[in-house]
Amino acid sequence: MTVSGPTHPSASTPAPADTVAGLLAEISRVGADTHRGGYSRPVFSTAELDLRAWFLAHAAKRGLDVETDRNGVIWAWWHTPVGGTANAVVTGSHLDSVPGGGAFDGPLGVASALVALDFLQAEGLRPERPLAIAVFPEEEGSRFGVACLGTRVLTGAIDVNLARGLRDQNGDTFAEVAARSGFDPTLLGPDPEALARIGTFIELHVEQGRELIDRHQAVGIGSSILGHGRWRLSVTGQGNHAGTTLMTDRHDPMIAAAGIVMAIRDTARAQPGARATVGRLEPVPGGTNVIASRVDLWLDARHPDDAVTASVVATILAEARLIAAAEGCTVQLTEESVSRTVSFDTGLRDHLSLLLPDAPVQHTGAGHDAGILTQYVPTAMLFVRNPTGVSHSPEEYVEDDDAEAGALALARVLADLLVPTTP
Ligand code: GLV
Ligand code: MN
Ligand code: MN
Repeated sequence: MTVSGPTHPSASTPAPADTVAGLLAEISRVGADTHRGGYSRPVFSTAELDLRAWFLAHAAKRGLDVETDRNGVIWAWWHTPVGGTANAVVTGSHLDSVPGGGAFDGPLGVASALVALDFLQAEGLRPERPLAIAVFPEEEGSRFGVACLGTRVLTGAIDVNLARGLRDQNGDTFAEVAARSGFDPTLLGPDPEALARIGTFIELHVEQGRELIDRHQAVGIGSSILGHGRWRLSVTGQGNHAGTTLMTDRHDPMIAAAGIVMAIRDTARAQPGARATVGRLEPVPGGTNVIASRVDLWLDARHPDDAVTASVVATILAEARLIAAAEGCTVQLTEESVSRTVSFDTGLRDHLSLLLPDAPVQHTGAGHDAGILTQYVPTAMLFVRNPTGVSHSPEEYVEDDDAEAGALALARVLADLLVPTTP
């Protein structure tokens, strides 16, 4: 392991029976997507519910006191001499995935939290603060469209009526799906008491870029998250017959959508630091011999300056209107979620740097529940090297040794927060 530092647990702490790689191997078939490759684990799907059950079994094995709250957040509490839940140190991540995602985005943070706890228990640590491992639902927003939906609902960052009405691709609302999954949809909503228990939140996550590869380090410390948002563009034309409609007689929203995708790329390229993606596009009704009547496409746009993101989206909309009009189509833009650029607590970040002196401090372009929670409680992130540098893809990867180094780094951070040894 490449983590060094003057803190505990140390290399002499007995290695836990479970390893991060071993835990992830246990769930390597859950939600495996034979069609897309990788994993598809939408929130409250059979796969995600199976992963929750897997986590609950591991929490029970460790004697944790588990509660699944009214928003579907799992909290697994370590019974400690301090008792209670106030000023807790909370660590954890998510178990849902993007469609065809990697094995590590989310589950790495959950498995590492379990192994980090094992280190603390093996060391006989007697915490001065409570510790909980949390699992947040719908971090990816891949089912209901809104990124970090669980932490947004928990914190009140989204209007709960809006959240209840969000629909998945089957047309089922979040409220309906929550009800089918055993949650009372009328009880969904801000939970100031649950939020107030969190004294410090630490999320460990697979790195989704290449910085740790380039820095030759297994573990990094997060500094900030790039602002990001999602918008749906609906292009409406005239549905018609693919054989009988002359090319000159068409109002084909797919042609407009194709032009809009190119305009999105060009607009983002013209703005230094901007990123814009169309990763999902749905023709309605969607038939090979059918000229679509409507095409929905989803824009993901990101920039460090939230005002620039807004102007990029405004430019894209203006371009899209021109492109659609040239095809005899119309276009409508709907904002689905916006997350502003956030920085993590600088005092906590600097403290982590003292504990993990080799770990570079790094910014990330990916969104996380930590980015929502940092707006309410002192929050930090740890990243673990991904040797492919690729994420949201089956190519995402973490070497076993790096995963263990990440868990040990997390254990050191948690130990220090629970029983302070450094100033
Ligand atoms: C989540 O991983 C995101 O960055 O969209
Ligand atoms: Mn994630
Ligand atoms: Mn992700």
